[in-house]
Amino acid sequence: MRLTVGISGASGVIIAVELLKTLKQIEEVETHLIVTEGAALTFKHETNFNLSEIKKFADFVYDINETDAPVASGSFLTEGMMIVPCSMKTIAGINSGYAENLLLRAADVCIKENRKLIVVPRETPLSRIHLRNLKELADSGVVIIPPMLTFYNKPSTIQEQIDHIVNKILMQFKLPTFLPEWTNRKE
Ligand SMILES: Cc1cc2nc3c(=O)[nH]c(=O)nc-3n(C[C@H](O)[C@H](O)[C@H](O)COP(=O)(O)O)c2cc1C
Repeated sequence: MRLTVGISGASGVIIAVELLKTLKQIEEVETHLIVTEGAALTFKHETNFNLSEIKKFADFVYDINETDAPVASGSFLTEGMMIVPCSMKTIAGINSGYAENLLLRAADVCIKENRKLIVVPRETPLSRIHLRNLKELADSGVVIIPPMLTFYNKPSTIQEQIDHIVNKILMQFKLPTFLPEWTNRKE
């Protein structure tokens, strides 16, 4: 299963690291990674990771300006793409079809080829512009998974909150998850 993973410059790049680590453990998955310049800066501000460490978790890595990479073409078959986290700039770029870098182009390809595209948009508060772009992407079939705090699983660490988002993404591709299914059955 070929999956494209995009990391853009919103807060929460650590979620992408956890996602890549998890995908690496799933034998049938082949990951194609694109990291924006904004994400590289956010990594510096928010984590102790350097980019070369993160790239090791992916099978293939492309430069953001490599618009002749395989994932820039619809003829390169993938199961879809996830952009984690997704900045409002990248949301706007996807929604307007402004494919000026490889990440935006790969997302554009997913939409035109009717493949699954998942975005994990992160900003707060959300402006009318952000909401309009997100709504229009949802209308185009893009799956919007905001990295929202979740409490029904009674998390006690940030790691558990991150794991929850990672699982929500995996579920979209019917990949194995490590979250128990919700049930309120009394057994
Ligand atoms: C530490 C840090 C945190 C940021 N957090 C966000 C965020 O949560 N959401 C957002 O839309 N932009 C955020 N930004 C701004 C984006 O990184 C910036 O708009 C960038 O140009 C996005 O470009 P990209 O989408 O190509 O990565 C943040 C920037 C920095 C340095």
